Amino acid sequence: MRNKIIVEASGRINLIGEHVDYNGGFVLPASIDKKIIIEIHSVSGEKCNIESKTLDKGFKINLKKIYKSKIQWQNYIIGVLYNLIVLKKLKIEAFNCKIESNLPIGAGISSSSALICGIASGLNYLNNLKLTNDEIIDIVSDVEHNFIGLMGGIMDQFTIVNGKKNKLILLNCQNRNFKYINFDFNNYKFLLINTNIEHNLADSAYNERVKECSEALSVINKKYNKYNSLIEVEENILNEFKSILKEKIYNRALFVIQENQRTHDSANKISNSKLKEFGELMYKSHYGLKNLYEVSCKELDFLVEFTSNHEEIIGSRMMGGGFGGCTINLIKENYVDNFVDLVSQAYLDKFHIKLNAFTVNIDNGITIKNIYDF
Ligand code: GLA
Repeated sequence: MRNKIIVEASGRINLIGEHVDYNGGFVLPASIDKKIIIEIHSVSGEKCNIESKTLDKGFKINLKKIYKSKIQWQNYIIGVLYNLIVLKKLKIEAFNCKIESNLPIGAGISSSSALICGIASGLNYLNNLKLTNDEIIDIVSDVEHNFIGLMGGIMDQFTIVNGKKNKLILLNCQNRNFKYINFDFNNYKFLLINTNIEHNLADSAYNERVKECSEALSVINKKYNKYNSLIEVEENILNEFKSILKEKIYNRALFVIQENQRTHDSANKISNSKLKEFGELMYKSHYGLKNLYEVSCKELDFLVEFTSNHEEIIGSRMMGGGFGGCTINLIKENYVDNFVDLVSQAYLDKFHIKLNAFTVNIDNGITIKNIYDF
């Protein structure tokens, strides 16, 4: 008898709190009903066969010879095997695996973390490794940092591992304390609009922001020597360094401190059903990401601006790492179809690119089904 499992690993949205996770701040994400589906089947021997139905590509790997690949998507899987077998010296049975996805790739909704989380959680289950959620989150960070070259924070993997149906997660990225907030937005929906602009997070711009933030922190700590992360610095303290820091570095730090505050404020507004006020914070977040943090692009800005004459949309902003990907919009449910028609045409006229728009529901982050194969 061999074991066969089906793992479903969801993507994530982030309501607010962008680019604060690696600065120890608060984020407000949720796992969604767009998923990567991974079928894993134990086999005898040492050779694994991995197939991506979505990419229509595959590769083989021998568990005794695990090396980084030149092909990036393969490293999402190889990185997990390297962590489990080479670093943690755990015993993993050979397996065949088929991957399918309805999660758009490179859209800023975390298809890469979903794949890594799904593989790590599936192998954990199949091999009875007893890894905790925190250990899985660390494995995903290790793969992203050391195999993919993206110095990302923990928001994506934390959300995928801990996400629950109809719950938002208010997460403190410094100590991983979190609480669930009920998601009940009545007749409003989250509409994601994909610019279809290629967004490559491993691209140096993301890692550059990580470095710029740590530069700001180290200058401030030369005087104060007490801050563990940038979000602990109050805005008035940052202002003491306005003439010392390079303007760009000051702006990055200012954004991070303000965005972290916006996450706290948003959680309060949402808990008190003040959705319009939360929506205003989404717009403020976008303008900070555009002007201070400089991770937006003209296509994202166009989509956010386009919502401003439509009172049925109460909040809009770019989501995720930036430089392309999606906007997240809070929109009256009965206006979705109408708006998608209008914005699709306007975007096509302006950029000669077709966008994709889809509403998302908040769903469980990881589910594993066990199927016995006799
Ligand atoms: C990417 C990273 C996350 C986070 C966001 C920006 O999704 O993987 O860790 O930094 O960008 O908020």
